[in-house]
Amino acid sequence: MRSGAISFRGFTWRPVGRKNPTIAGLDLHIEPGERVLLVGPSGSGKSTILHAAAGALGTTISGEATGDVSVDGRLGLVLQNPADAIVAERIGRDVAFGPENLGLPRDEIWRRVDAALAAVRLDYPRDHLTSALSGGEQQRLVLAGVLATEPDVVLLDEPTSMLDAVAAERARDAVLAAVGDRTLVVVEHRFEPWLDHVDRVVALDPGGVVGFDGSVAEFLASGGRPRLWMPGAPPPTPIEIPAEFVSPAVVPEAVDASDVVLTTRMIRGTRRHRALSGFTARLAPGTTTAITGPSGAGKSTALLAMTGLVRVSGGTVTPDRTRMRSRELAREVGWVPQNPELGFLTTSVREEVERTASVLGVEVEADELLALVGLERFAPSHPYRLSGGEQRRLAMISALAHRPGFVALDEPTVGQDRDTWAVVTGWYTAAARAGAVVALATHDPDAPRDVEIAVGEAVTAT
Ligand SMILES: Nc1ncnc2c1ncn2[C@@H]1O[C@H](COP(=O)(O)OP(=O)(O)OP(=O)(O)O)[C@@H](O)[C@H]1O
Ligand SMILES: [Mg+2]
Repeated sequence: MRSGAISFRGFTWRPVGRKNPTIAGLDLHIEPGERVLLVGPSGSGKSTILHAAAGALGTTISGEATGDVSVDGRLGLVLQNPADAIVAERIGRDVAFGPENLGLPRDEIWRRVDAALAAVRLDYPRDHLTSALSGGEQQRLVLAGVLATEPDVVLLDEPTSMLDAVAAERARDAVLAAVGDRTLVVVEHRFEPWLDHVDRVVALDPGGVVGFDGSVAEFLASGGRPRLWMPGAPPPTPIEIPAEFVSPAVVPEAVDASDVVLTTRMIRGTRRHRALSGFTARLAPGTTTAITGPSGAGKSTALLAMTGLVRVSGGTVTPDRTRMRSRELAREVGWVPQNPELGFLTTSVREEVERTASVLGVEVEADELLALVGLERFAPSHPYRLSGGEQRRLAMISALAHRPGFVALDEPTVGQDRDTWAVVTGWYTAAARAGAVVALATHDPDAPRDVEIAVGEAVTAT
């Protein structure tokens, strides 16, 4: 018999700290070789279902499971947050990790490593540092790692969420070529490009209930479900965030970056990685500036250079905040990194929102802020017990609660459904309207902006 079936029978999951199950009585059967697109609003339970299939619930994620889950065959899972899955210092060893664990011969391991890196178009030598990869490159590295194990069942949790259209298409091609006739389950919010490549769509409604299950044609004919990014629908209108939550506590000055070069740390004294070269920009108060460009081009680096959180290796940035005390820097700059979940500092969602503000002596209404981004009921929860999209929204309001004048957001719209996207974009457009300097690094063509600055071609190691 061909392996690759996945089956949920009456599956119910109640995570630790939750009164109610997040998945209740799920019945879902996926045939060997089926290609399934799994969609649903942020927090509806998509990642939970993938984790359940991978056997992580009740083991690495604590809670109470009842009912049955079975997977027939070997499974490969690409997690929503790629940084969580990187295990080695060098990209070659990182991809080799899976094949090594399968006990494959050395030659076969390295053949697979090279083939997988080429398939995802990560054109760096095997000894390239994983720490020098951009978010989108990390995403492709993790994908390569799973493809190299040639699993019977491939589960992908938002595998192209941080990629521009071109890089996403390449990643999709790599996935489809590697998957062949094996089982594929892919989760994505901006799912339109997958529709031509899947057999079936399963749409979850809030609360982990299957709201639709059928063919792509039936899905499109049905009009989909609320909050989904249905093809052809215009992006939603950003919601109005009251000025009192976003208007800068200290009037900001413009940020001028001229001819900025940023080179990352020396790699064993030999190779340097040039992350940005000759970047020039002026960020004006009251304006939203989007920094765009292909995966690996230096969008995040440009954003970081302008904040004063790193010292540039060439060119100038004014005001120069690199010598500022960290408390003053925090007061002026609200920075949300690309993997914000790596930066949570407290053990509850409410404390996380209050933390920076209370260090700075600024009063905030945490519960009101949480309600605006749909997280009020999670106030006592641990920040790590939120879904991917929920964590990004938490990171944003935590960084902006004290109303900094310079708002620097790295890929703020990733992982959001239509409703939560409208909140995130509403937040930063309101901040700009209230006089803040707003800069985004983004590959989302729909994210509102007044000014766009494209950073050049993907920069490779020199
Ligand atoms: N480790 C955890 N412990 C407790 N609850 C969790 C945990 N991870 C997620 N949850 C909760 O379970 C529900 C489903 O989360 P899940 O991560 O499956 O959503 P999702 O559909 O993948 O959302 P997103 O699109 O934002 O990634 C959410 O209410 C979330 O807050
Ligand atoms: Mg998820």
